[in-house]
Amino acid sequence: MTRPEPWLDSAMDIAQRVGNADFDWDAFDSAAYFEHNYGTMRGDDERIIEIVADFFQTYRRTHSARAIDVGAGANLYPALTMLPLAAEVILYERAFTNRQWLNAQIERPHASWWQFWSHMNAGRSAYQPIKEPFDLLSRRARVVKGNIFSLQPGQFDIGTMFFVAESITTRNDEFVRATQSFVNSLVPRGSFAAAFMRDSSGYRVGGRSFPACSVDERDVRQALLPVATDVRIQTVDSKDLRDGYCGMIVATGHKRT
Ligand SMILES: C[S@@+](CC[C@H](N)C(=O)[O-])C[C@H]1O[C@@H](n2cnc3c(N)ncnc32)[C@H](O)[C@@H]1O
Repeated sequence: MTRPEPWLDSAMDIAQRVGNADFDWDAFDSAAYFEHNYGTMRGDDERIIEIVADFFQTYRRTHSARAIDVGAGANLYPALTMLPLAAEVILYERAFTNRQWLNAQIERPHASWWQFWSHMNAGRSAYQPIKEPFDLLSRRARVVKGNIFSLQPGQFDIGTMFFVAESITTRNDEFVRATQSFVNSLVPRGSFAAAFMRDSSGYRVGGRSFPACSVDERDVRQALLPVATDVRIQTVDSKDLRDGYCGMIVATGHKRT
């Protein structure tokens, strides 16, 4: 058997250490992440909510959709954007800590989630009939352990994926595979909204480092092209969250038939 050149060996070793499976997701500090990102609503969240809630409201055809938020983490607002359409919302998450956090928050949501709900509710007829959003969420949401790369195709009518595909790996091939796996989990013509950190170099949560794959609007479009139609990509200004990123990207669209 011929051995690879030594330089190739170490290059492969480095490449293998920066993938999704190389990080200890069960050590994700949900409380620290929540406090930093969603303890109060920022302007970038407001803009994302406007884009996503308008999109879902426009394509609302049902109250009985099967919905999924992939890599839900310590964030309830993607799930809230789907609430008027959904009979069931799966909060799909790899990390044990985040699943525990999600189960606790569904029962006793932090007060800040009302800021996010009020913003999506304002002036949107699809959201206004819901008077007790968190009671409804606790009845409709289910936290499920899962890996984005193992999602089965064609299972859900609508879906969200916020800051996941580009924030779980440094590898571009995994970013593409995660994005496509998310969209493929929808039925043909299923509606999706996805948010991405733009040009991210990684992030810290509670003193631990987590990876990122630096992507821009073109990368997002290219990843979506084979699996999605009606794709609309919008850039959201954001600079104060942390160092090492350059805005946010929101993509909406439908699963290809
Ligand atoms: C940057 S956080 C985003 C959390 C949340 N969606 C938000 O909007 O803030 C990335 C999330 O992806 C989860 N994750 C990491 N690898 C995953 C995988 N292979 N499958 C599903 N979720 C994963 C992490 O546990 C974490 O909750």
